[in-house]
Amino acid sequence: MPCLTTNLQAGLESLTLDRLKSILFFLGKGGVGKTTLSVNFAIYLSKNGFKTYLMSVDPAHNIADLLETKLHNGPNKINSNLVIEELDVDLHLKKTIKKTEKTLKEQYKYLQILNLDNMFNVIKYSPGLQEYSIMYGLFETYNRILPDFDYLIIDTPPTGLMMRIFSLPQTNLMWLAKLKELRSNILGKRDQIAHLDKGTFKKHKIPTKESDDMVFKELQFEIKRTQDIGCIYNSDTSKKVLVMNDDRLSLLESFKILNDLKSFNMNVDLIAINKNITSDFSLGEIEEDYSKLKDYKNLLIPFYKSKITEDLMLPHMHKMFNHLDICK
Ligand SMILES: Nc1ncnc2c1ncn2[C@@H]1O[C@H](COP(=O)(O)OP(=O)(O)OP(=O)(O)O)[C@@H](O)[C@H]1O
Ligand SMILES: [Mg+2]
Repeated sequence: MPCLTTNLQAGLESLTLDRLKSILFFLGKGGVGKTTLSVNFAIYLSKNGFKTYLMSVDPAHNIADLLETKLHNGPNKINSNLVIEELDVDLHLKKTIKKTEKTLKEQYKYLQILNLDNMFNVIKYSPGLQEYSIMYGLFETYNRILPDFDYLIIDTPPTGLMMRIFSLPQTNLMWLAKLKELRSNILGKRDQIAHLDKGTFKKHKIPTKESDDMVFKELQFEIKRTQDIGCIYNSDTSKKVLVMNDDRLSLLESFKILNDLKSFNMNVDLIAINKNITSDFSLGEIEEDYSKLKDYKNLLIPFYKSKITEDLMLPHMHKMFNHLDICK
């Protein structure tokens, strides 16, 4: 699997996708129809015999409302080919914090000060934590379903949050490289001091070598994991469907998304112009703007006044499937 970003090239070189043919991200501005289209596409795939896993990573889930059903935490089997999960971002975050606390407690036994338990309600609002939680939740699901499913469909939160999640592997790698360097320096200094005071270091089992140090190992593990996640986002099997509406603001935001994705070396594979009220989506004065989208495959889906049913969506989902070229 080719990996486009130089920083991320060390990751996933040995990745085989097992059964999974493709991961599809439905992206776009708030309210354009990401959930409607991702749910209908997942239903379409499952009804065509493909094992499909639909996951919402939007903290404000609404798949259950759309399907007029109740979804419990974790995977929900909808039919023999379709599983739906609304990622519990808070729960995932809680687990990550717990794990970090355990690791830190083991490492710094002699300090005995850590109790992050009661701080969860504050910590969960720390900048960036939600993005981390979603990124790792997605990675965990990806690994879990890899051997058993043909498609993983991701219903994403509105643009801003999703772009931060996509940019996270690159920024995280830079950050981790600095931390690794810092840790190396700390261990080097400890080693020098340990020569003068062997007793204390031995008594408290304080590591002085990278190979004995849990923090250093943890950093290496995180670097590998981050490279793998970046590679998943960038791989050829990861497809991005940009959903937009037939209006100026939606169009402008779509240009921003296309540019942002380009800066992460990501492409959009299909633009779905949803809730279309004209037959050719040309809006007079902004017709020129639309011509910028001509390089992309696109799909027009009309605005429906009636309830949106599977039958209404079927021909559009069929076209989407053909456009995306995902059946290898
Ligand atoms: N083709 C369509 N015709 C008419 N209404 C539509 C169409 N597609 C979606 N809608 C309606 O638009 C609203 C928003 O749709 P949806 O929830 O799928 O958007 P979203 O992009 O997932 O929103 P959010 O960013 O809030 O998650 C819903 O009421 C949905 O029924
Ligand atoms: Mg939605």
